[in-house]
Amino acid sequence: DVAYVNGRFMDLADATVPVEDRGLQFGDGVYEVIRTYRGRPFQVEAHLARLAQSAAAIGLALPEAARQFPALIDEGIRRAAYPDCKVYLQITRGVAPRDHAFPGRVAPTVIMTFRLMRPLDPALAANGVAVVMADDIRWGRCDIKSVNLLANVLARQRALEAGAFEALLVRGGRITEGAVSNVMVVRQGGLRTAPVGPEILAGVTRHLVLELARKEGLPIKEEAVTRDELRSADEVFLTGTTVEVLPVVTVDAMVIGSGCPGPISRLLQQRFQEVAL
Ligand code: PDD
Repeated sequence: DVAYVNGRFMDLADATVPVEDRGLQFGDGVYEVIRTYRGRPFQVEAHLARLAQSAAAIGLALPEAARQFPALIDEGIRRAAYPDCKVYLQITRGVAPRDHAFPGRVAPTVIMTFRLMRPLDPALAANGVAVVMADDIRWGRCDIKSVNLLANVLARQRALEAGAFEALLVRGGRITEGAVSNVMVVRQGGLRTAPVGPEILAGVTRHLVLELARKEGLPIKEEAVTRDELRSADEVFLTGTTVEVLPVVTVDAMVIGSGCPGPISRLLQQRFQEVAL
């Protein structure tokens, strides 16, 4: 595996950051996950635009190297030489003696890893997955893709321990998103998903899938479904870089629709594959 740390490519096994990196001590950083299809990074401009937004939102000035990100990502992908690659890119506020307030004049730490992208088990995409609901205990700026992921970590772990694939996060009775994905619901012939705003990450895949749905003429309402509305959902699916379009067939013990991936999930899954592959 290949890594990039502050200007240099190296073997991932040799890549290190100092103990006083603020990413490690405060989660004071932002990140992106980008994958390739057929060796080419997918939606890279959208990911880098969101990275710039996340950095700006935490008052982190992008380093010089940011202008070369597209070229560096390409180079890492080439060096890793996997059929498909999962690119992790993280910028932290840098290395400084531990103090909550911003340090003066330190260079941000830029790291990237290039690992084999294992395709999702085709059986999951074909048959759908089970999910559970979990309280959304995250902070008030979930639109920032920050490396503070403890609430997401706990929710996903709980889901896996319950034999489920993902946790649907519930805030004030409404489904915001998943621990690692956005959530879409088909109900009364239309598509529903939480609006972009501080309660969700504006997923790159979410945006693309909404575009595809619009092209199909599906009515779309960007309004979070309530826990109650979920009961009468015809279809539920997840979107995200790592999950693509992934049908959900049970939520906790409740069966969604017929218990099989529904026609709109399948259609958008297919349209997504046509764009990605
Ligand atoms: N996560 N919501 C959350 C909380 C996420 O962490 C992610 C992605 C998404 C989907 O966003 P996108 O379509 O841009 O990948 C939604 C990445 C993959 C991760 O943390 O591994």
